[in-house]
This record gives sequence, structure tokens and C-alpha cells, in this order.
Amino acid sequence: MPKEFLESQFININGSNRELMRQMGYAFVDLITDEVLANQTQDFVKDISILKLDIPQVGINWQDLLLEVRSQVLPRSLNLNNPRYMGHMDSTPLAITVWADALASAINNNMLSSELAPLFTQLEADLMLWFGQLFGLGDKSFGTLTSGGSLANITALLVARNYKIPSIKSKGLENKLVALISDAAHTSFDKGMNVIGLGSKNLIRVETNALGQIKPEVLEAKIQEQLNLGKIPFFIGAIAGTTITGAIDNIAAVGEIAKKYNCWFHVDAAYGGAAILSPKWKYLLSGIEQADSITFNPQKWMWVARTCAMFLVKDRQHLINGFDNTLPYMADNSLNFGNFTLQGTRRTDSLKLWLALRSLGLDGYAQLVNDSMDKAQALRVWVDNSVDLELVCEPTINIVCMRSLNPNLDNATLRQKWIDQGKLWLSLPLWQGDRIIKAVVLHPFAQWS
Ligand SMILES: Cc1ncc(COP(=O)(O)O)c(C=O)c1O
Repeated sequence: MPKEFLESQFININGSNRELMRQMGYAFVDLITDEVLANQTQDFVKDISILKLDIPQVGINWQDLLLEVRSQVLPRSLNLNNPRYMGHMDSTPLAITVWADALASAINNNMLSSELAPLFTQLEADLMLWFGQLFGLGDKSFGTLTSGGSLANITALLVARNYKIPSIKSKGLENKLVALISDAAHTSFDKGMNVIGLGSKNLIRVETNALGQIKPEVLEAKIQEQLNLGKIPFFIGAIAGTTITGAIDNIAAVGEIAKKYNCWFHVDAAYGGAAILSPKWKYLLSGIEQADSITFNPQKWMWVARTCAMFLVKDRQHLINGFDNTLPYMADNSLNFGNFTLQGTRRTDSLKLWLALRSLGLDGYAQLVNDSMDKAQALRVWVDNSVDLELVCEPTINIVCMRSLNPNLDNATLRQKWIDQGKLWLSLPLWQGDRIIKAVVLHPFAQWS
């Protein structure tokens, strides 16, 4: 392998290959702009065949690799940039967050510690306090960016468990603990109970109404039932934007119950938390300021490129106590995020979040959130006016669930027909025993008719 080839993978100290690097970067920029972000009229997935891994003995130059990416990778990827894609909680990302991600990769600081990421440690801490205050958690709030809402929810269970019984951290498990959450809550809570050693059978699921909201009176009855069995409820969760119907629990009522039974109160606002950015819709989250902790994913309804999620706590000490970790191999131990997260090394997700907030501004975000709510309302009217469709339930936010009324076309077949026609890519979640069709109206240019 020629030495020049290996050296061309990095910028030379004398900068002699800087022009080559620029050309490589521009070629990626052209590809991303023209064939990914501007992919709005292209198929959802063009090619479903398997891509061969094909690791070569001898390295390949970037020009050939880019041709391969164009012909082999892009056609096999799911095209979220098509405005007819409304599946799951995914959207075309804000362009600035795509470029910011590349910038973060180039800077390549490690969010493990302030020694390894001095500015970004401060930026993440400041952003966590800013979001904590935005949700009404107050001046002592804190948090950490996580790679996804699942990790944030798992962290919530862990911190709550250790808050209830601090000795568990060193002495091991007290197996009488139970957590309570609605039957519409995300499966990451089951995963979390497994991870923190309490077992998913000690996650008590509480019945929901037709919209998917927890029934507070059933929650209280279930708590009583568990107490009578000698169990110790330690965690009660409310959901702001359930995964399937987008329902928002009565957060204030659930919070009251959590307080009454001396339980940690967590709000999973992974999706619906973005309503806080809209003066018009933030009332939907009323009561969230009572939370001990919150999960929120800017990678969902804030259009920030994945991954970007966070775990927020009302009292920073609880997050610190939840881990009690140290990093003896760091010289500076003032603020090391590696001590407060389940991860060690993390990407710098704060940069794109900060740039997104600054480039759109609070007014821009409010408008984008409001627009998506309006579009969802228009989609809802379209469903109402379609003789072959009906709503599954009244939408709360920009998630519209529907089902087929055509006796010859079940939901799965109808959904597949729409995908094959290039008309719509919607998801097919299981809801109360049936597969239904779900649209998440996130794309700023969403189209359906
Ligand atoms: C309400 C809710 N919480 C948590 C999650 C998990 O988030 P992630 O996929 O980022 O781990 C989801 C995912 O859709 C969700 O809808």
C-alpha cells in the first residue's frame, strides 16, 4: 500500500493535500444535497436486495466509494425526505443539523469528560438547564443528552430506583420495588426494568382510555393493590405523546398521585415534549413542571438529525447520586458527563441542537410545531372525508391513526398498496389487539392526496 495513499486519509501537516480533502468534502456535500435531502420525489425504498459487506484487502479511493454509495447504499435506504413518508416518529432533518453533525465528527471531542470536551461540556450543561427551565423544572434542574429516548427512560428508572433505596448501588437488589406506567407507554420501560435488575414483571401496566391516556383512578387502584401485596411502588410515569396514538396523559393528575405515594414522577415526553415550544399548544403539557425527571427527544418533533435525546432531572443532585461515578483517569473532575450517563464516550449532540435552536429561533420553532399540528388537522379532515377510512381515535397532536372501512382491503393490505403506489408510507402499529394505520405528520411539506 503506497504511503501517499494512507497519508491521503488525513490532512498533511504541510497542508499539501488540503485541496484533495476539500474535493472529497464537496463531493459528499453534493451527494447529500442533491441525492439525499432533495430526494423528495423518489421512491421510499428503490432496492430491497442485500448489500454485500465486501471488505477489501486493498483500500478503495473515495471517488469509487462515493459512486458505490450512490448506486448501492442510497437506493436501499428508506427515504424519509419524501413528503409522503409519515411513518413512525421520523422526519427529514433540519439541514443545519446534518452539517453540524459532520462538524461534530470533525471536531470529534469526547463527551465523556470536560477535559476531552471543554466547550461542549459547558454547552451541554447549559442546554440541559435551559430545557429544564423551559419545562418548568426550575434552577436546580440538570440532565444529559442520551442517544435516544430508550436510554433516557432506562436512566429514569435507574435514578429513581437509587433515589428510593440508595444502598442498592453497592449492596444489590431489593426485589419488592414496582414501577407503574400506562399500557400505552413505550417498551423501553420493560427493557429498563430488565436492565436495572427489577424485572419487567414488576412493571405494572395501567389501563388507558380510547385515546390512549392513562386512567388515574385505575392507577391509584393498582398502587393500592401492590401495597396490599407488600410491594413498594417507587416510580410512576406519565406519557406526553404516546408512541402509537400520540395521547398525552393527564400529567398533573398522575403527578399528584406520584406525590401522594412518595414515588419518583417521570414524564416521557420523548415525542410530545416539543409542544412546549409552541405558546399555542404548550398547555397540553401542563403539570410537566412537577416532574422529577423528563425524557425528551429533539430528534423527533424538533427535526434534529439523529441522535439527539435527553434525560432531564429537576434536582441535579439526584442525577449525581444516581451514579456516584468517578473518572480517576481524568485530571479535571469538575464536570464530567461520563459520570452521569450509562454511556462513557458520547458524540457531541449538543452542537447541532444548539445550532438548530439558534438558526430557527423560538419563533421559528413555534411556527414549525404549529404548522405540523395544522397539517395533521387537515389530514384528519381528509380521513373523515374518505368513504373507505375512519379515525381510530381523536388525534391529540400531529399523529393521526386510521383504519380501512373497505371490507375487501384490510389495514395491512391498504398500507402496503399505498407504499407500492408511492402514495404514502405510513406505519402499521398494533393498537388494542389490531393492526392500525398511523401517520406522523412531521415533514414540513407533507403531502397525502
Ligand atoms: C413515547 C416514546 N418514548 C420513548 C421512545 C424511545 O425513543 P428512542 O427510539 O429514541 O430510543 C419512543 C420511540 O418512539 C417513544 O415514542
